[in-house]
Amino acid sequence: MQSRRIGEVQVSAIGLGGMPMSIEGRPDEERSVSTIHAALDAGITLFDTADAYHIHADEVGHNESLIARALASYGGDTSDVLIATKGGHLRPGDGSWTVDGSAAYVKKACDASLERLGVEAIGLYQFHRPDPAVPYAESVGAIRDLLDAGKIRMAGISNADPAQIVEANEILGGRLVSVQNQFSPAFLSSTAELELCDQLGIAFLPWSPLGGIGRAGGLGGGFAEVAERYGVSPQRVCLAWHVSKSPVVIPIPGASRPATIQDSAAASSFELTASDLALLP
Ligand SMILES: NC(=O)c1ccc[n+]([C@@H]2O[C@H](COP(=O)([O-])OP(=O)(O)OC[C@H]3O[C@@H](n4cnc5c(N)ncnc54)[C@H](OP(=O)(O)O)[C@@H]3O)[C@@H](O)[C@H]2O)c1
Repeated sequence: MQSRRIGEVQVSAIGLGGMPMSIEGRPDEERSVSTIHAALDAGITLFDTADAYHIHADEVGHNESLIARALASYGGDTSDVLIATKGGHLRPGDGSWTVDGSAAYVKKACDASLERLGVEAIGLYQFHRPDPAVPYAESVGAIRDLLDAGKIRMAGISNADPAQIVEANEILGGRLVSVQNQFSPAFLSSTAELELCDQLGIAFLPWSPLGGIGRAGGLGGGFAEVAERYGVSPQRVCLAWHVSKSPVVIPIPGASRPATIQDSAAASSFELTASDLALLP
């Protein structure tokens, strides 16, 4: 497994996104734990989660707790695992997603995540999504305070535009280590943010890198053609395409089955040639 860097921490070049194991359509716990164990077996050391990955109002942090349990029941060494969680998004239980970026809420959410993950400090804590009702400086200021208090080891942001990336890095005193934005062949709109992260040496974590839950099978065009050339899945080609974009890119494909994360993990050692890349966006 190729490795990449988030801050000073080395992680696998492909991570696992935990969302499909906790929101609508999720599998039973046994299959989810097998999926997380398969990721660990494949050398994945980056696990992306969020307190908001749940369905019902009374199960906030479903995905964080699931990952914590799966790590605890894994037979092997997990000391090099980085858990990246997020705060600032909420799911009231009616299927909707809401936001609260107030400093008081973000700090309270971080305390709850710390407890669920059972750690003294969260490896990477990401502010999930800007709240239009709260100044961005207040939300990111809360993340800075959490960093200064030692409750989180590293700070990231998500769903940010280039101006917000610059602002967040300033507020954090140059300690912004990651940006997580939507980016996939069907959604190239975060190209400017990816390029800015490349310039600044900040990790860029594309979310829904395959196009999203239920849409990952729709990778056609050049991806299907290159996949056929090598006898691999178009999803593996897609993840290798992400990795080829810049050394700062670390895709976090979601999975709810061992076979899909095993296939995705293999993308880290799959190199695309210039003639392959010519067929891709
Ligand atoms: N920051 C944010 O606002 C935000 C928003 C959305 C998502 N995210 C994060 O990004 C992660 C990834 O996004 P996502 O889960 O929405 O979408 P995605 O990674 O684009 O697609 C996930 C789906 O792709 C399938 N898949 C994965 N690898 C595959 C492979 N090698 N071959 C065939 N199918 C494959 C999975 O199928 P199976 O389920 O059958 O395994 C899963 O349902 C999330 O899990 C979450 O951690 C963050």
